[in-house]
Amino acid sequence: MPFSSDETPNPRQSVLRERREDAVNGYLDRTPAIYRGNIRIHPDADDWARQRDDAPPSLFLTGPIGVGKTHTAWQASRQWLATTVDRTRRMPSIETWRSTALFDALRPDNRDYDAKALTRTLQCADLLYVDDLAAARVSPTGWTQERLYEIFDERYINRRPVLITCDVYPNQISHIVGDRVASRLGEMCRGGVVLLEGADRRMGGVAA
Ligand SMILES: Nc1ncnc2c1ncn2[C@@H]1O[C@H](COP(=O)(O)OP(=O)(O)OP(=O)(O)O)[C@@H](O)[C@H]1O
Ligand SMILES: [Mg+2]
Repeated sequence: MPFSSDETPNPRQSVLRERREDAVNGYLDRTPAIYRGNIRIHPDADDWARQRDDAPPSLFLTGPIGVGKTHTAWQASRQWLATTVDRTRRMPSIETWRSTALFDALRPDNRDYDAKALTRTLQCADLLYVDDLAAARVSPTGWTQERLYEIFDERYINRRPVLITCDVYPNQISHIVGDRVASRLGEMCRGGVVLLEGADRRMGGVAA
């Protein structure tokens, strides 16, 4: 349907809309296939994604297996991206990592990544999304925990947001990320811990 004269966006609005669409489409391209569909997300996650006035800067999604944490995180980060493009008029960077891959990448013997460059990238990204933070069965070594400390402390002192999914609460992750990172995450995500409840959707359950 053609625009009526009232609805025609001015050139500045068109540029902004195009920039937002480019950002969101680029992000959708790197979103895993099952998480591309739009779902209704928890209102607190939506507040965070739209950066509403009282929303905390960081979000920590917790809850049992299969309840929708990762899907919520991809959708919330997509909306966060759109909101941030509109607010800042530039393309924000989002680093998305499964925790197990992140811990592997930060190991001293990893040959696929330059540890210094990766640490810097993860310190400076506009948003760092780590999925399933407590998934690792074997806790990272002291060396890897030190790299995590460097990453999270830099983000903490510069108030850079993180988005975490995890099947336990922030006060239960010290054995994985170390006491210092757990402490910083506790403060960064204060007011932003969202519990998703319900049955495992993969087994046909529906979240409450
Ligand atoms: N609100 C929703 N509406 C419809 N489908 C959903 C919704 N949330 C999640 N799903 C679907 O449910 C399944 C499980 O979701 P997801 O992978 O996000 O769970 P999870 O909580 O991250 O699980 P895990 O703890 O095992 O990582 C996926 O197929 C996902 O697309
Ligand atoms: Mg998940």
